[in-house]
Amino acid sequence: MQFSTKIFPQADLQSAKQLKTSLKSLLTQNTDCLVLGYSQADFDGVAASKTAKSKAGLLAELDLLLGGAISHAMVLGDLDGKQASICLLRADKSWSANAVKAKRVLLLCMGDLQSSTDRSLTAYAKVARAGLKALSGGSIENALWFAPSFTLSKASEMIAQEVRLAVQYAGDQAYRFGVRQPAMKFKVKDKADEFKHLIFAGNDACAKELKLAVEQGGAIVEGMHLAKDLGNLPPNICTPTYLGKTAQGLAKKTSLKVEVLGLKQIEALGMGSFLSVAKGSDTPPQFIVMRHQGGKVGEAPVVLVGKGITFDTGGISLKPGEAMDEMKYDMCGAASVIGTMYSTALMKLKKNVIGVIPTCENMPSGRATRPGDIVKSMSGQTIEILNTDAEGRLILCDALTYVERFKPKAVIDIATLTGACVIALGHVHSGLFSDDESLVNALTKAGQDSLDTVWRLPLDAAYHEQLKSNFADVANIGGRPAGSVTAACFLSRFTEKYKWAHLDIAGTAWKSGAAKGSTGRPVPLLVNYLLEQK
Ligand code: BES
Ligand code: MN
Ligand code: ZN
Repeated sequence: MQFSTKIFPQADLQSAKQLKTSLKSLLTQNTDCLVLGYSQADFDGVAASKTAKSKAGLLAELDLLLGGAISHAMVLGDLDGKQASICLLRADKSWSANAVKAKRVLLLCMGDLQSSTDRSLTAYAKVARAGLKALSGGSIENALWFAPSFTLSKASEMIAQEVRLAVQYAGDQAYRFGVRQPAMKFKVKDKADEFKHLIFAGNDACAKELKLAVEQGGAIVEGMHLAKDLGNLPPNICTPTYLGKTAQGLAKKTSLKVEVLGLKQIEALGMGSFLSVAKGSDTPPQFIVMRHQGGKVGEAPVVLVGKGITFDTGGISLKPGEAMDEMKYDMCGAASVIGTMYSTALMKLKKNVIGVIPTCENMPSGRATRPGDIVKSMSGQTIEILNTDAEGRLILCDALTYVERFKPKAVIDIATLTGACVIALGHVHSGLFSDDESLVNALTKAGQDSLDTVWRLPLDAAYHEQLKSNFADVANIGGRPAGSVTAACFLSRFTEKYKWAHLDIAGTAWKSGAAKGSTGRPVPLLVNYLLEQK
């Protein structure tokens, strides 16, 4: 999928004076499909008379240029004033008589522009999805999307957000695992979408924002696609070593600096908790550090820590067999960190960002950790392992101690940590845990801006009670009540030295059922957070 911009300096579909010439300049473009937004008011204007002839406004002007196509669509009942309704018009002889070169015109109803609900980003997303859906799966290869008319918003910040979101959705829609992974042709049905090139048209007033938003959106898409690939790859391919190699591969094609530590180095660091999880597996653990140095030297970095369990059997506390294959997705925290680091590098973000990934398998074997074992974490705290299936926190805690050395501005860990989070929040929001109000606000806003949302859950001292152990400093489980909260509380004990937030993405990182697959979340959230950081 390719994204680009094209500027029509004077084009403005909201100015009555500019309307006709603007439409002409857009319609004379050679494109498979010109995408234009209209408002409910535009619709009501022409609906009143059934013929658009006597009326003014966008649809009426279009009707004249398109040989009555609007009136015709009205008569057929194909045009509607309801938000997110679409109408696809196809060229006929009358179009070429008016020098129209667009092969199709896709009309999208933006809704009631006086209503603040209709103008929200969520409503916009609905409209964008409807439009993008109409463009895909057929024979349309490229489309020209007139952004300012589409958003019908004069606020440039809004245009940037909306365009970024449209690019994000278009990329999401275009993703095909089998096409991106030709070596994985298990599913021959996967064919690339014909729709390959989305061009955003704008005018002088928004040219700069538009170009930037399309670039940023494109970088988000690349990061999401990479995160999806890593999530979807089978666990016999996507091993800890494979994740390390992938990160090193990015260092070759971008300015990222990548370091991968192996077993010996992990031992030397004293990561007894991380190693206790890796012990049962025949494949070696890896500890990946990725750096993006886009800010000043010495400027405190934002550090992202991703859970990289490439397969979670539960270990000796073995999981039941049903849907166990989905535990290949237990490295989606790591995938989102790798994806976000890639996006960050692609957009040459002027900030320092570090991605850290502890990665291993959680397997049962004669060498595996038992329930009852006590291990010593890198922080010095001892942990009584009461359930070997609560392994995510065991690998993350050592990574959270390791990152102290970076003197971070903030640390965010991302993990498919608890089934309880799926019960609490379903597949809508990722769980957010933090005692830092500014970090909570920033992540909440970034979620709303990318529609990759989070919902805050508590982290109070009272929950720590559940983690008491008779034999060690802390137990690795806190019982069934509030399972996501006690997991977060466990992590918090290793994060005293910096501002920290934890994202539980167990419900949002992948989809089950017929549409089984990685979602690429929370790459959009994290990239938006980084972009919005001062
Ligand atoms: N990776 C799982 C969490 C998970 C389970 C995510 C199901 C998505 C769907 C994690 O390692 C785990 O097994 N957690 C246990 C914790 C329990 C033993 C305290 C869980 O959630 O059951
Ligand atoms: Mn587990
Ligand atoms: Zn797990």
